[in-house]
Amino acid sequence: MDLAYIIEAASAASAKAYAPYSNFRVGAAILTKSGALYTGCNVENASYGLAICAERNAAARMVVGATNADDRKIRLVAVASPDSAPCFPCGACRQVLREFGCEEVVVLDASNELKRYPFQALLPHAFGPEDL
Ligand code: THU
Repeated sequence: MDLAYIIEAASAASAKAYAPYSNFRVGAAILTKSGALYTGCNVENASYGLAICAERNAAARMVVGATNADDRKIRLVAVASPDSAPCFPCGACRQVLREFGCEEVVVLDASNELKRYPFQALLPHAFGPEDL
């Protein structure tokens, strides 16, 4: 699956965002090690603190869709927003992506170019399941 297709899936998911409070739409697409693709958008709430980010939405869909352990390993996540470029995962989402071994983060820069970052660059010295 090529990166252009995956970031396009993230962009398409951002169009589904439920973001009436921030008007900030985000879409994410997770590619698993087994080759499956799961998308998510942000889902806000009148109780503002309950907003769910696109990345965590996609991760939850991945967990539901998984049929074996490799289906729950994240090869990469692509994030896109029509309202800001580049749009990187927030700190909470980085930790959730770390849980499932995310290796790489892909975003679109301000010129609409794909940029790739090793996950380690976004969350160095991370705490994870192996530390327990
Ligand atoms: N948001 C995401 O969905 N992902 C990010 O990476 C950054 C922030 C959402 C949460 C909230 O609905 C809106 O963007 C503004 O923070």
